[in-house]
Amino acid sequence: MAESMKGLHRSVRCGEVTGDMIGKTLTLMGWTQKRRNLGSLIFVDLRDRSGIMQILFDETKIGAEGMARAGSIRSEYVLAVTGVVQKRGGAVNEKLKTGTMELCATSLRILSESETPPFPVEENSQTKEELRLKNRTLDLRRPDIQRNLMVKSRVAQLSREFMAKEGFLEIETPMLGKSTPEGARDYLVPSRIYPGSFFALPQSPQLYKQLLMVAGYDRYFQLARCFRDEDLRADRQPEFTQMDMELSFVDIDDVIDVNERLLQFLWKEVLDVEIPVPFPRMKWIDAMNRYGSDKPDLRFGMELTDLSEVVKDCGFGVFSDCVRNGGYVRCITVKGQAEMPRKKIDALTEFVRGYGMKGLAYIQLKEGGTKCSFAKFMQPEEIDAIVAAAGGEPGDLILIGADRFKLVSETMGALRCHLARQLDLIDRSRFEFLWIVEFPQFEWSEEENRFQAMHHPFTMPMEEDLQWLDPAADLSKVRAKAYDIVLNGAEIGGGSVRIHQSDVQEKMFECLGFTKEQAADQFSFLLNAFRYGVPPHAGLAYGLDRVVMMMLGLDSIRDVIAFPKVKDSSDLMTQAPGQVARKQLDELGILIRKEEQHPEEAIREADD
Ligand code: AMO
Ligand code: AMP
Repeated sequence: MAESMKGLHRSVRCGEVTGDMIGKTLTLMGWTQKRRNLGSLIFVDLRDRSGIMQILFDETKIGAEGMARAGSIRSEYVLAVTGVVQKRGGAVNEKLKTGTMELCATSLRILSESETPPFPVEENSQTKEELRLKNRTLDLRRPDIQRNLMVKSRVAQLSREFMAKEGFLEIETPMLGKSTPEGARDYLVPSRIYPGSFFALPQSPQLYKQLLMVAGYDRYFQLARCFRDEDLRADRQPEFTQMDMELSFVDIDDVIDVNERLLQFLWKEVLDVEIPVPFPRMKWIDAMNRYGSDKPDLRFGMELTDLSEVVKDCGFGVFSDCVRNGGYVRCITVKGQAEMPRKKIDALTEFVRGYGMKGLAYIQLKEGGTKCSFAKFMQPEEIDAIVAAAGGEPGDLILIGADRFKLVSETMGALRCHLARQLDLIDRSRFEFLWIVEFPQFEWSEEENRFQAMHHPFTMPMEEDLQWLDPAADLSKVRAKAYDIVLNGAEIGGGSVRIHQSDVQEKMFECLGFTKEQAADQFSFLLNAFRYGVPPHAGLAYGLDRVVMMMLGLDSIRDVIAFPKVKDSSDLMTQAPGQVARKQLDELGILIRKEEQHPEEAIREADD
């Protein structure tokens, strides 16, 4: 039976017992990690978020009745134990902070019993994620997840502290608002008062923070919940948290400066790691050319080489036709992998096919002679020229792709990372920060058959490119005053200098294909505010979850979010999203289409 804790006060947490407490009487409370019954002695590992303390139940100290109750303890029982701290009689546990001590119990209360858990609560659990997420409360007891969430809490708290010192005000912005375009689908909330009208949950506080600058708040900061209805990946959730900021009267360098110091501060305080500033800056085009990615991982080399010039007139049609049609031929040189078996190369070919490339050509610089997948189409000198351009040396493997700029770059970039993981080339102890700058302002959307904003429509073009900010000009030439902060191959944050002149903003909407009416309809509040004096301003937002994930070297964003969603954006624990009562829908003026109706709802309707 569960007992109350009446009259008891916890002295310290389990992991906070220190050597100078030996001889003292303490009361500890926590969960049972493990129990070993040796008959006359019972050992319990008592766990809370701070760690584990060994409890010793000795019949001579706790009595026969206490011993009987200690014997009934099972995994995950919640206990309150009072006893005396002493040096361990048995073996010392080097792995525990408290491993040289134990609490010799003089009284025990079982505060709560536990059914047998569906999986053991232990570090680096091998349990299937689905089962863990269904039972997330148990899963959240795992020390590694607890550590992750404690680090996240610390990062949030430290950034508040840093930003406050730098003169940023923490200001909340609405959750129920108008759609802010960040390129994802909105989550909509129907209005009861205006049936047929909807709020949009914020994809980011972008417009509000700009309005705060117009309103004279000078420096804004917020840990803001953001919502994006997009396909999930290992580093993406439909709701996540931004560390969001905006600054007035600044340009790119000011934003970069404050953020380098913020990151330096966080890494020092949380990990005790010194990260050197300033971080390198790389133009977007160079990142795409050299790494095939706008978020290159600089912890390893294996850069891409462009072979387009070398092969443009060669005898191999796959290459020369590609270049003639405006495409590119790019390669990576994999050191010392000439002997890679055919099967493995085939697997790499499958890998690039997954990205949409038609094939993967290769040259193996083997000891016994060069083996080339397209030898029959080329003169030996042409192959030599490729090898020379690729910097190939005896023993190397050269992998070559040919396709349109974006596809070949991104595919070869992905292949580079894939191989680095496969060949274990990544030094996981390193933190390689990098700014990507000079992004294209516009990106061609095949789907919509028009240019879209690569960052968002409020990003300022580079001054020297303003001449091309015209629907009649070549919009692909316009570069943006946008910047991303990249860490170890992940985009942890991004931002830009904003447009603060109405005429430029109007031109921007025009280039993006908005009619004047559409722009006014969606953004009149912003354009109106811009009529009354706008300071030049700029900002940036981090994905807090991603920052913590990268800081801790984790592979999944779900490990830094207490209650994450799974791939189909549902929550396995609460089973959200769920159905709602008909009455609620009626109040909102919402009718569910017959074919979308849940079977039970259809039956209810038939009964009506
Ligand atoms: P952006 O869209 O680049 O910029 O978002 C900023 C950062 O938020 C993180 N992020 C995500 N994290 C988890 N799950 C997601 N679905 C997700 N989407 C984005 C990324 C990203 O770098 N308003 C602008 C910022 C600005 O211009 O100031 C914005 O939202 O780490
Ligand atoms: P094929 O003419 O399709 O038999 O291809 C001959 C060689 O070229 C094979 O090694 C293919 O994998 C390779 N190949 C085909 N398409 C491409 C491409 N887009 N990029 C690189 N190599 C390719």
